[in-house]
Amino acid sequence: MQSLFSPQPAEAGDAIFALVEAFQNDPAPHKVSLSIGTYFAEDGSIPVMRAVRQASDMLLQAGKPHPYLPIPGSAPYRNAARSLVFGTDSAEPERIVTVQSVGGTGALKLGADLLRRTCPEAEVWVSDPTWENHGQIFRQAGFAVHEYPYYDPATATVRFAQMQAALQALPAGSIVVLHASCHNPTGVDLSADQWDALTALFARQRLIPFFDLAYQGFGGGLDADAAPIRMMARAGMECLVASSFSKNFSLYGERCGALHVICRDEGAADSALGQLKSLIRGNYSTPPTFGAALVATVLNDPALRQLWADELEQMRTRLAGLRGRLAMELAQLTGEPETWRCVEQQQGLFSYMRLSPPQVDTLRREHAVYLLKSGRLCVAGLTDCNIEYVARAIAAVTRR
Ligand code: LMR
Repeated sequence: MQSLFSPQPAEAGDAIFALVEAFQNDPAPHKVSLSIGTYFAEDGSIPVMRAVRQASDMLLQAGKPHPYLPIPGSAPYRNAARSLVFGTDSAEPERIVTVQSVGGTGALKLGADLLRRTCPEAEVWVSDPTWENHGQIFRQAGFAVHEYPYYDPATATVRFAQMQAALQALPAGSIVVLHASCHNPTGVDLSADQWDALTALFARQRLIPFFDLAYQGFGGGLDADAAPIRMMARAGMECLVASSFSKNFSLYGERCGALHVICRDEGAADSALGQLKSLIRGNYSTPPTFGAALVATVLNDPALRQLWADELEQMRTRLAGLRGRLAMELAQLTGEPETWRCVEQQQGLFSYMRLSPPQVDTLRREHAVYLLKSGRLCVAGLTDCNIEYVARAIAAVTRR
């Protein structure tokens, strides 16, 4: 008898997690994982941030019970998450609905499901290229997904004129996914002037911005990375933001995210919250407690918050240093400083290396250096110990 499931073609699986698995199974002692977006400390471990460790000790010591959270999540967590995105002086918080989500991915899916209920005719536009999972999330919510021009491989910069022209031509009510900072996968962000121009364009064309803010604090800093969102919110636009504490709290597996919906007025905010509660209840009922309690404890305690922000800033500047070092090593090894200058100019966890899929393949097979096929390299996987080896491996595959 045929299985219930065999008529469906086998799925290829997720490219990023497949590489993580291949890396774990690779016996090479000198292997280097630069695929998934995870920040590693100098000793190659995933850090437990000092403020998070203190909050964790406090919570475990208190030994509190584990009740259900309210459907939209813990209130101290939601308030702290909102003020991190919009600033403590965030104008009209009653217009902003924030719900706790299962990671940044969960926030994107909740937002997509909400939009599918409220504007089912709309279509979704993502940058070319974008994070692998964006297309799948919005397609699984029932939307048609298209790309707008973003990255120019010839110059390693944004094709801003083409991007503007494409967005200008979209029908009102189109949903446009934007990376607020630390563009994944390219590391190439828009300038403040370009965000200004986009804000005017979105308002004029009545487009719906849906921001992905997964790397707040790793680009220009906590406030700078949220500036494009604050700009569009100030312009009075209705928009959505998926934020995440996976990277900036180093809490990957705790799945701490938040969806923020900026609504026209308080009435619209009530209605959005009601829709979100029903989506959450009909999916996973209520969100998990521990990670959210860690984040809320840190962000709501001035001393712990400062400790956290200082450590995050150290991580950010360390990343910038690693970029500079990689660009310099590659320039020296290949004699082509221009080709690699972009590595230093990009920001966030990723660099889009000028490598073809066969070169990426050779890197993995012959040098045990793992990158995404697109040439996306996670700078946060580099350390003082492996950076020279990685640069030599990249130089070797580009020489062929
Ligand atoms: C990445 O892009 O590597 C991260 O955002 C992790 C993930 O879930 O894909």
